[in-house]
Amino acid sequence: MSAVVGTSAVHDSAHLHVCGTARYLDDLPEPAGLLHAFIALSPHAHARISAMDLSAVATAPGVVAVMAAADVPGVNDVGPAMPGDPIFAPGLVEYHGQSIFAVAAGSIGAARRAAALAKIEYELLQPILTIDDAMAQQAFVLPSKTLRRGNPEAALAAAPHRLSGRLAMGGQEHFYLEGQAALAVPGEDGDIVVHGSTQHPTEVQHLTARALGLSDHAVVCQTRRMGGAFGGKESQASLVAVIAALLAQRTGRPVKLRLDRDDDMILTGKRHDFRVLYDVGFDGEGVVSAISFDFASRCGMSPDLSAAINDRAMFHADNAYFLEHALIVSHRCKTHTVSNTAFRGFGGPQGMVAIEHVMDAIARHLDLEPLLVRQRNFYGAAPRNVTPYGMRVEDNITSALVAKLAETADYATRRADVSAFNAAHLWRKRGIALTPVKFGISFTLTQMNQAGALVHVYTDGSVLLNHGGTEMGQGLNTKVAMIVADVFGLSLARVKITATTTEKVPNTSPTAASSGSDLNGRAAQVAAETIRDRLAGVASADFGVPAEQIRFMDGLVSGGGKSQSFVEIVRSAYRQRLSLSSTGFYRTPGLAYDAETMTGRPFFYFAYGAAVSEVEIDTLTGEYRLTRVDILHDCGRSLNPAIDIGQIEGGFVQGAGWLTTEELWWDERGRLRTHAPSTYKIPACGDVPADFRVALYHNENVEETVHRAKAVGEPPLMLAISVLHALRDAVASVGSGPVALDAPATPERVLMAIESRRSQVALAEAAE
Ligand code: MTE
Ligand code: MOS
Repeated sequence: MSAVVGTSAVHDSAHLHVCGTARYLDDLPEPAGLLHAFIALSPHAHARISAMDLSAVATAPGVVAVMAAADVPGVNDVGPAMPGDPIFAPGLVEYHGQSIFAVAAGSIGAARRAAALAKIEYELLQPILTIDDAMAQQAFVLPSKTLRRGNPEAALAAAPHRLSGRLAMGGQEHFYLEGQAALAVPGEDGDIVVHGSTQHPTEVQHLTARALGLSDHAVVCQTRRMGGAFGGKESQASLVAVIAALLAQRTGRPVKLRLDRDDDMILTGKRHDFRVLYDVGFDGEGVVSAISFDFASRCGMSPDLSAAINDRAMFHADNAYFLEHALIVSHRCKTHTVSNTAFRGFGGPQGMVAIEHVMDAIARHLDLEPLLVRQRNFYGAAPRNVTPYGMRVEDNITSALVAKLAETADYATRRADVSAFNAAHLWRKRGIALTPVKFGISFTLTQMNQAGALVHVYTDGSVLLNHGGTEMGQGLNTKVAMIVADVFGLSLARVKITATTTEKVPNTSPTAASSGSDLNGRAAQVAAETIRDRLAGVASADFGVPAEQIRFMDGLVSGGGKSQSFVEIVRSAYRQRLSLSSTGFYRTPGLAYDAETMTGRPFFYFAYGAAVSEVEIDTLTGEYRLTRVDILHDCGRSLNPAIDIGQIEGGFVQGAGWLTTEELWWDERGRLRTHAPSTYKIPACGDVPADFRVALYHNENVEETVHRAKAVGEPPLMLAISVLHALRDAVASVGSGPVALDAPATPERVLMAIESRRSQVALAEAAE
């Protein structure tokens, strides 16, 4: 029964967000005796620390404590999956901006001024900065991996047409509006509470305990909400939290550590940039018979989450296309730059940009409509329904969804309009593109696909709910509360969710991989159903009907023509000394994946979508505008259409930023020079397409997810690949030759791509 699920209930904190009264970390009331911490960053990308004298820092006005590597009582590392991320550089510095030491003082100004008094001598070493450098020196953070199906070499050799090439795509700064921040409060007997802005409270708890030399049970991590995270607070929130905790332990006083924007951008990891080599074989219709991909990504100085991120890039090198013979190689490059990390899509977007580039190249080579080439390569009926890693695409809806979108977005007519416009205009050119998304849902590390929840019913009939997921603006708490409200037949207002805390639900996974509502929603549903079954037992005895006939709806408990209010039944249960509290647990069924061979079923199901983007460019300056976007996206049976559409709009715009205006730039010494909004351009309101039409595809998950819904957090980001391809399409209307346009397609790159095609024409004319 769902009276609440499926409605567009407002986000539970919406009224707080708009009034400015939602509490983020820096809004928490400051405890008495609070100290402020500052992290001193390395001025070099690769160096050995030959001498360090922090005495002037320690005696500076207002300073209470200074800590460096040697002062960490436990383990000096916050690597999430494997070690490699020192809390403080242990003698070797491996990126510009790495944490060297930290200061706690009465004010942030005093801490910052004191840090400048450090006397540190460095012996400079040669840094490796780019993917090409790392490949040349064979510098890797992890071994390279290979996924192979069929006989790609023979199939490539036999293909009627063959194309090879190279493309590159940039990284991306998360630019969460709330930066990294933590508040650590020491308790009695060495215990500590860490308030973190983190997607992964359990990991903060564990790493804090390990660094401080405590047991996990002595540390609590609590997170009410984040002002955005986007993957940037999955592993990277730990460093800030752990340093705050170390200083709190050392001083016995509460410590707040809040990075300013520039430090945040320099110190913390970003989306991986990739370079891709491809070699593809296809027939005259554009149908791919064989492909070889060679991926290389810039992981930075440590593994962090790069293993799983690069795996996901390999798993998404097919996007929505059947690749019969495939060779997918992935190199995880080590560079002396910040360690790159999770970012919405988690490597998936990079794999998909690669295959979409190939589809476009095939279409332009054969002079076919790109949409037609894409459609001809979609997964279809068996045997064309198996991914390179051997998972069957069960509910392949791409063809139907794309056909529907092409119709509602009027693709064919607008394609003709674009051509007519381009024929009539010399300097202004338009482009249009439709690209699909197929995104695998589940953590590829199977053990992470589990969740817990805790539900209490009080004797006034109100419900308090806790689950292991974290709220970062995506509406997870609202969705989970809606699921629980329906179990009890209550209105949403009767259910409250409080801060995520490791004290209530232990051993949680990060809120990531878009699986927050699938996992925690189910765990909370299980907990609520346990209590509901007890209440049904009470009502069954009262009403004299079997428990299976008891219904919970509209605040009433009914059966056999009788009914009582929910509160009355709850009070009866209390008088009968029945527990009104329960935990709930869920693990995703059906996953069977062999990490060694990279084959099996890493995903529970796929989420689908497609987008049509149209752009207009000024070929004299490279400037462009995104004029219209139509999206059709599959959320299964949506838990909350308003929230889902918000995720689709936000994800799309964030993806468009990645592929167009957001450009990270390191100088020859490995210093990130784009570390503020003045030099790093994220999309603003004015960059949202003027005509933006988003619709949900009516569908039901073939798998038994909670209410047959589908995850929505990450997949829509990849709808923005259509923007890159609309730009490529506009560029292709000028001159001749290949479309040499990598991402981010900044106005400069668009202009260079146009100039390169125009010069091809000039060359041809000169030769005549
Ligand atoms: N939406 C908002 N508003 N803020 C965020 O930080 N993170 C995204 C996505 N949507 C994010 C967001 C990322 S990277 C993920 S993995 C999912 O939300 C996580 O939440 P979910 O699993 O509950 O969808
Ligand atoms: Mo999202 S990148 O899985 O936190």
